[in-house]
Amino acid sequence: MILSIESSCDDSSIAITRLEDKKLLFHKKISQDAEHAAYGGVVPELAARLHAVTLPKILEEAKPYFSEVKAIAVTNEPGLSVTLVEGVSMAKALSVALGLPLLGINHLKGHICSLFIEDETLFPLDVLLVSGGHTQLLHVNSLEEIKLLATTMDDSFGESFDKVGKMLGLPYPAGPLIEAYAKRGDAKRFDFTVPLQGTSTKLLAFSYSGLKNQVRLCIEAQENLDEQTICDICASFQRVAVAHLMQKIRKAYKERSVEHFGVVGGASANLYLRGELEAFCASKQATLHTAKMEFCSDNAAMIGRCALEAYAQKAFVNLADLKVRSSSKDIFY
Ligand code: KG4
Ligand code: ZN
Repeated sequence: MILSIESSCDDSSIAITRLEDKKLLFHKKISQDAEHAAYGGVVPELAARLHAVTLPKILEEAKPYFSEVKAIAVTNEPGLSVTLVEGVSMAKALSVALGLPLLGINHLKGHICSLFIEDETLFPLDVLLVSGGHTQLLHVNSLEEIKLLATTMDDSFGESFDKVGKMLGLPYPAGPLIEAYAKRGDAKRFDFTVPLQGTSTKLLAFSYSGLKNQVRLCIEAQENLDEQTICDICASFQRVAVAHLMQKIRKAYKERSVEHFGVVGGASANLYLRGELEAFCASKQATLHTAKMEFCSDNAAMIGRCALEAYAQKAFVNLADLKVRSSSKDIFY
């Protein structure tokens, strides 16, 4: 078995995954949404202190598996450095105490592996990664060969939901709430402009700061921010935020074939986005792959699934060489 730890942002999570058949034997996650809600976003120092309390609590429950654990895996990049350190320190302590090898796992590769929990990997695969920290279009030949097709120039897709939510007085993380409000709203009431439409260049990139600003001006212009207006703003914003993703995705695959397309990351739970991606895949005769809802946002099960691949490659690292890195640009070719 492999014991995996995730603490890259505000979710403390530990998983036990069986080596022989990829079975997820134990998985627990404690989120800190309530503690960060009042601040409208994650406060890194607070998140780190909470991990120091919650990770040992979860570890206590995983103790019955210790005798059969063969390696310790931990997310070491990318993420908030102060929170990554909590998981990495625990992993190093466990490695020494139990005499087990260490595996450092890239969080983005973890999200890709959320599609393969208790299952075989499937490559090549094109992936849209939409989370609070990332908005990336990737061509994944294997976990060692990932091509970055497009990324955001400023805010990420999930982050734009959080920021619009903050402007509307909604608690963090606002993504699921905005989706819920949008269901009751008129998506055509506010005519926000889809970002980067006029770019005649070959630029394949995402941008959410301009849309966020349009929404801010719209909110400020409302004399009465009643419930229906909030629903209409959420619906109009979501329509345009997703339309921007879809326009760039269509552009990326205009002259490129795609057989298997996956969507991962916390914001991949958005059903409106999934619907649009279904339509895109149908038009390309491609198959859309989605993670189970419980594995979209950060979790250790996906880190454990990625760790199975790293274990097979014997990609073990020494104690001193396992370092925390807040960004991970060099995973792309
Ligand atoms: O992957 P994740 O748990 O953390 C990061 O690695 O960043 O993603 C969290 C992000 C938050 O920004 C949250 O608002 C967004 O995913 N999110 C959503 C939805 N559910 C979560 N965004 C839009 N619609 C949703 N249903
Ligand atoms: Zn994530």
